[in-house]
Amino acid sequence: MIRLSNNIDLTHLASFATPAKADRLIEWDSAEELANYLRGEGGNFLRNGEQWAILGEGCNTLFTKDFRGTIIRCVAKGMETIEGSDNLHTLLRVAAGEVWDNVVEECCRRSLWGAENLSAIPSSVGSSAVQNIGAYGTEAKDIIERVEYLDLEDFELKCIDCKECQFGYRDSIFKHALAGKAIITAVVYRLSSTPAPKLDYGTLRPEVEKCGAELTPMVIREAVIRIRSSKLPDHKVIGNAGSFFKNPILPRTFVEELRKRYPAMPIYEVAGEPDKLKIATGWMIDHLGWKGKNIGRAGVHTQQALVLVNLGGATGDEVVTLAERICREVYEVFGVEISPEVNIL
Ligand code: EPU
Repeated sequence: MIRLSNNIDLTHLASFATPAKADRLIEWDSAEELANYLRGEGGNFLRNGEQWAILGEGCNTLFTKDFRGTIIRCVAKGMETIEGSDNLHTLLRVAAGEVWDNVVEECCRRSLWGAENLSAIPSSVGSSAVQNIGAYGTEAKDIIERVEYLDLEDFELKCIDCKECQFGYRDSIFKHALAGKAIITAVVYRLSSTPAPKLDYGTLRPEVEKCGAELTPMVIREAVIRIRSSKLPDHKVIGNAGSFFKNPILPRTFVEELRKRYPAMPIYEVAGEPDKLKIATGWMIDHLGWKGKNIGRAGVHTQQALVLVNLGGATGDEVVTLAERICREVYEVFGVEISPEVNIL
């Protein structure tokens, strides 16, 4: 199925709920049909150099103005266990438009390990790979086996394995070499039947142990959901896109100097990069007193300073004004450049 709509209201297609419209929306649920459609006249907008963008669940996108172009959105759902699975591992192939948390819930229900720490992240399956979503010491890359996509140069359906995806912190090949050249159609995840709990991030271990139950993926999922809901706003109640900024990864020597000035600043090692350290942007914004503050209708969440919120009726520009002010202050005080995690359109 290919569904075309014109003059679309985007307000409720993105979790920040800022007002915006798009000229055109293409929704699809079959990769083959999408390939045929874009190969033909339907794909003229790609060849004419018009503006276009892919939207998943809209939970990491801030619209600041009307989008003069085409939004492409996968509405294909569903997951299947595929060949290559055995007693130790299950390969789950999931359509790009599936809601990410449905995948986590299904894995936990089947006692499959690997996805539980990523519970309740608002995302589509396609975005889980583009963004390499992460939380509580786990990233999507840890369980991605391969990614299937439509190549927009030759309109062939292709597949790349986890290594080729060049995953990094909130980063992948889909933001670089394949940006604007690929539409993700499905992701294959590899889950483990062998218990592999990862409980070392923040307060996860005490939260899990509190309930005294046998350690299962579902018990960890429930603990993660409790922690998340205590700090992160539900976008269905108050518009937001999760963490607005990334946590910068900086040279170790620079961070060691910062640590001398701010001994309480949370600092993390970066796997595979011994010369670098990651620092917590949320802590810096909180330290500057921004938590719970606002400029107009755009605010900083009361429980988590890394999350900017739409207090009701904010425009995308108001959110950007707040974000720019915060960036400036963080730079002036800490000498650190922070950048948005959210895709600003
Ligand atoms: N902190 C504060 N004040 C704040 C916020 C944080 O002092 O207002 C401190 C915390 O106490 C903690 C540290 O900063 O010591 C880090 O905070 P937290 O554990 O809440 O995580 P984060 O670095 O703010 C990252 C991800 C989140 C993910 C959490 C948990 C990024 C950009 N964000 O946030 O992901 O849920 O870790 O793993 O990496 C998202 O990407 O949208 C997202 C929510």
